[in-house]
Amino acid sequence: MIRSLLFGCTLILLLGSGTTQAEVEKITIKIPPVSLAQWYKPANKRQVWLHTMFRLRREMQAVNEYARQKDAIGTKKWGQRLAKSYRTIPEMVPEWKKEVRLDWAGILETAAVEGDFKQVLHAYDKLDASCNLCHQDFQALAATLYRSPDFSTEQVAFNGETIHYDKFMELLTQTVNRLKIATEDQHPQAAERSLTQLKNQLQALEPGCANCHRDERPKERILGANTQEILRHLEESIQNNQPKQTGRFLGEAAVAICARCHGVHRTLSDLKQFLMPAQF
Ligand code: HEC
Ligand code: HEC
Ligand code: HEC
Repeated sequence: MIRSLLFGCTLILLLGSGTTQAEVEKITIKIPPVSLAQWYKPANKRQVWLHTMFRLRREMQAVNEYARQKDAIGTKKWGQRLAKSYRTIPEMVPEWKKEVRLDWAGILETAAVEGDFKQVLHAYDKLDASCNLCHQDFQALAATLYRSPDFSTEQVAFNGETIHYDKFMELLTQTVNRLKIATEDQHPQAAERSLTQLKNQLQALEPGCANCHRDERPKERILGANTQEILRHLEESIQNNQPKQTGRFLGEAAVAICARCHGVHRTLSDLKQFLMPAQF
């Protein structure tokens, strides 16, 4: 990420004196080139970019360890592999030609073949620096854009209707607030109706988890036994007309169900849409 911080300053003139107040702090970020997308799902069957990166890290480690041990066979084998993998970076994403040091990849390869360990380690440091520079600018953003959950096309089937995720979330919030208001104003029947509605709505969320998760565990974590228990306590407190308890269990439900799910899905999904509204 390029950290050129621009401080947007506003000059505020007060009677008889001038005061400067920093109002907005701006940060410029570099967006990864579009051609990176072809190396990620769904454009690709596999997360090819990420696997190339894992391979590079492994090859870097092998070269470093063998060169330090002055192991000619290992250094040659992994030095050649590393140079080959490194060259694929600008082949995969041509816009990143300037981000790589092909000169040092060549020097490393030659030195590895010749058994010049000192030169290998010198070239290794140069390549390592190029890894870090690109990562500073692009790593976090690429992971957010290409590997975080995208809910923009997710839908929920509820009461015979198909509803967009964000619209359904508004319904969920209304139900929770209706329950809260009815509790505060001592309308236990209205509270009970809202609780039934909340349970139905949470149930409607369940099938959608399988769109992205193959196993049952994520669903269990947020909508499983723990949540069912909180909802049971909530129900009992409403039936026993204990508004204070109801408020407490409602708070617990909001953390265990809503906040926990939002932490992993909503924040990333929102961030992604904020960064790339048109493209993603
Ligand atoms: C031109 C840009 C660029 C260069 C050069 C580059 N990378 Fe990366 N690398 C990336 C991007 C972008 C990601 C984020 C990918 C993601 O998370 O989906 C990444 C992620 C990684 C990761 C994954 C980290 C993790 O645990 O999630 C590893 C490992 C990695 N790079 C190793 C390397 C090594 C080693 C080099 C140098 C030999 C290197 N990379 C050079 C762009 C680059
Ligand atoms: C649009 C895709 C998508 C949908 C739909 C989705 N998730 Fe996720 N979820 C992800 C991604 C991506 C991650 C982070 C990586 C991972 O763990 O697979 C994640 C992570 C999680 C995690 C934390 C990691 C873990 O595996 O425990 C939980 C818990 C979770 N999801 C629960 C749910 C529940 C419950 C639902 C349904 C109500 C759901 N998810 C629906 C994409 C989705
Ligand atoms: C699958 C996990 C999940 C659960 C459980 C969940 N949410 Fe959400 N929520 C999301 C996601 C994802 C978004 C972002 C949707 C989007 O922008 O497309 C969201 C967005 C929202 C929004 C903003 C809607 C908008 O118009 O952008 C509200 C409000 C909300 N949720 C309330 C709740 C409440 C209240 C609960 C608990 C009763 C809850 N959510 C439970 C995943 C979840």
